[in-house]
Amino acid sequence: MKNITAVILAAGEGTRMRSSTPKILHNICGRPMIAYVLNAVKCIKVGKIIVVVGHKSQQVKEYLGKSILTMEQKKLLGTGDAVLTVKDKIDTDDDVLILYGDTPLITIETLTRLQEEHRKTNASCTMLSVTVKNPFGYGRIVRNEQGNVLKIVEENDATLFQKVIEEINVGVYFYKAKDLFEALDKIRPTNKKHEYYLTDTIEQLSGMGKKVTAVETKDTDEIIGVNSRRELATAAKIIKTRLINDIIDNGATIVDPDNTYIENNVTVGQDTIIYPFSYIEEDVKIGKNCSIGPYARIRRGTTIADNVIVGNFVELNRARIGNNCRMKHLSYLGDAVLGDEVNIGAGTIIANYDGKNKNTTNIKEKAFIGSGTILVAPITIGKNAVTGAGAVVTKNKDVPDNTIVVGVPAKVLNRRKKQ
Ligand code: UD1
Ligand code: MG
Repeated sequence: MKNITAVILAAGEGTRMRSSTPKILHNICGRPMIAYVLNAVKCIKVGKIIVVVGHKSQQVKEYLGKSILTMEQKKLLGTGDAVLTVKDKIDTDDDVLILYGDTPLITIETLTRLQEEHRKTNASCTMLSVTVKNPFGYGRIVRNEQGNVLKIVEENDATLFQKVIEEINVGVYFYKAKDLFEALDKIRPTNKKHEYYLTDTIEQLSGMGKKVTAVETKDTDEIIGVNSRRELATAAKIIKTRLINDIIDNGATIVDPDNTYIENNVTVGQDTIIYPFSYIEEDVKIGKNCSIGPYARIRRGTTIADNVIVGNFVELNRARIGNNCRMKHLSYLGDAVLGDEVNIGAGTIIANYDGKNKNTTNIKEKAFIGSGTILVAPITIGKNAVTGAGAVVTKNKDVPDNTIVVGVPAKVLNRRKKQ
């Protein structure tokens, strides 16, 4: 089997985004758009991955980290020129998988199918296409009467007759490396944008008598290329729906999927119900039989055990919540560790940040935090302890087990009867 090198093009400026952030770093459900492309590529077997960077390359490299190989495209002369920057890194016997960093909806299934087709047909280039009504902004696939692919014509350069072609180029290709670079040497920037178009290699290859195949996908969602903020919003909606469907399929109820926001890598246990306008960030784990929202904000890294109620306007940030806890209204719990059966009264606020450090608050099992309590971290509230309404518990003034504290600053009122 041939070695595959994957090349992700991410050097473009993304002018149509009207942004100072490089296009491929724009966020979709908690991750930059390029993360989705990388993730899909990592799931199929490739020898190495190279990302071509250019516009604000430092910022892009910082995100990618040291483990991903990057190549710099000095002048942004088009997608064809971008691919040329990796020429020295690729063996002529390799297959090259090329994708665009702005196509985040591509699925592992489709990449696998394209790869299998490429291997089976032994084509010089196997690309992905899709048929859509009234396409705009995409390259049109021109075939001859026998149905063979002749070339791709970009929107800007298409004639009226070509614009009505409904089969478009998704921007995912497997090439034989030798044929790719031979064709790239021949392309010229003779188009409206004066760029070297990777898509012109198709005409070169078919002209050289080489085989070019277009594999069609039926999924019109996964082909969306993000070039504008409208397309960014469209892509985000589709990804969000995919993530929510996974959670629903695992046995949780999401009352109104359109008005619930869930990022990647979130797990929700069976029979948990999530009410509308809740926002759950990446890497959150929620147990079974919980009730979340409406209007809950659960931030990155929070874990919630079983039978927990998180009500309206509650924000949890890097929190660990035990079984059977209740926090039903208007609270902020940051860097908090709660034992089982803790009750958090309405309006409880944890002051976790002292301007320098984020400090931890421990609230032990069966503690009862009265409405409007402020807990200044670091602090521990003992087992079965109570804070009175409006108490301000100052830092390091730990509340012993079974005590009741009240006032500002909170002082011990008396011992609580053991429950
Ligand atoms: C491209 C395709 C088009 C296809 C569409 C699918 C070309 C010429 N056209 O158009 O046929 O239907 O994608 O979404 O390829 N890039 C670089 N260096 C450059 C220019 C671009 O790395 O000099 C990168 C961009 O960062 C981007 C990708 O290549 O991730 C595609 O470029 P973009 O300008 O978005 O091409 P489209 O006009 O969308
Ligand atoms: Mg694009």
